[in-house]
Amino acid sequence: MKKTFCRCSCFFKSNIYLEQIGAHVHYIDDEQFRKEYQQLASDKNDIEQLLNSVHKEINRRQTLDIDARIRKEQIRKEYQPLYPELYQFQSKFLSEHFKQICAQPKSSNEYLKKFNNGIYSIPVFTTEFCTKFIDELKHFEASPMPKGRPNTMNNYGVLLDELGFSNFIDELRNQYLNPLVKALYGDEYVGDTGLDSHKAFVVSYKIGQDIDLGYHYDNAEVTLNVSLGAQFEGGDLYFGTMAKANRTVFSNFTFVEHMPTFGILHRGQHLHGSEPITSGERYNFIIWMRSSSKRNQLCPMCWQKPEYLIPVESDSYGDGMTNSIENI
Ligand SMILES: [Fe+2]
Ligand SMILES: [Zn+2]
Repeated sequence: MKKTFCRCSCFFKSNIYLEQIGAHVHYIDDEQFRKEYQQLASDKNDIEQLLNSVHKEINRRQTLDIDARIRKEQIRKEYQPLYPELYQFQSKFLSEHFKQICAQPKSSNEYLKKFNNGIYSIPVFTTEFCTKFIDELKHFEASPMPKGRPNTMNNYGVLLDELGFSNFIDELRNQYLNPLVKALYGDEYVGDTGLDSHKAFVVSYKIGQDIDLGYHYDNAEVTLNVSLGAQFEGGDLYFGTMAKANRTVFSNFTFVEHMPTFGILHRGQHLHGSEPITSGERYNFIIWMRSSSKRNQLCPMCWQKPEYLIPVESDSYGDGMTNSIENI
């Protein structure tokens, strides 16, 4: 039976990022929020202002899937791509080394670079693909089409499923990334279902806009973060501990440099951030890969077995959980 993808109910109350104070909060009701977060308030951001931002973010999340479907429909009908051929996945977009590594992930390959703690650097796309893809993104940005933003931590970027890359990412995930992740990280990360959904987006960093990203973990079992280019300096990724072990430890960082056309593969719950770029602009193609069998058991955002699963629009993957009633 076809799976119905869902969100965990925690999406509507937890992990709400407040930019003013650079912290994540959770919300049950106004009284709880005022009591719990009073100490984070200041003259500049009093508690009522913080509460107002929380209400706004929850309202945004409540209509997010419907808003996304409306944008996606409009883009499908009205947007004129610069390079229509990019939207249909082709293996020629991929680096030959990437294909070799995915075909035989267990044999040693000089292009698969292993850092400590389950972090890998791997060639992914061809230079030609990256160059065209950046031009396509710029073309989309310059168009009057509606734009959803990747998440509350990135103000600049594009949601690739809305832009029409769902099938592209599905093929890349099923044919290449699922076997690769299974071989490198084991069943613990892919579960019985394999990596059966994703959230994919491009974030851009530019001097004068977003230049870095705070310490966080991803809502993913495993993340692939590919640098598309173009010209930039700085902006290394740094990795700390696993999220559940200790969210606040800031020590023993592993620094990994972004190289155009190469991707960094890491576990979603590995805490990380991005250093500021010091010049130029940088585009990163990010795929959060998810396994429904894993997250049906434990939601990585609330660390509990999802209490309620809320089905989402039929063309959305939600948070990657699936409705078990539909699966009987
Ligand atoms: Fe991330
Ligand atoms: Zn949850």
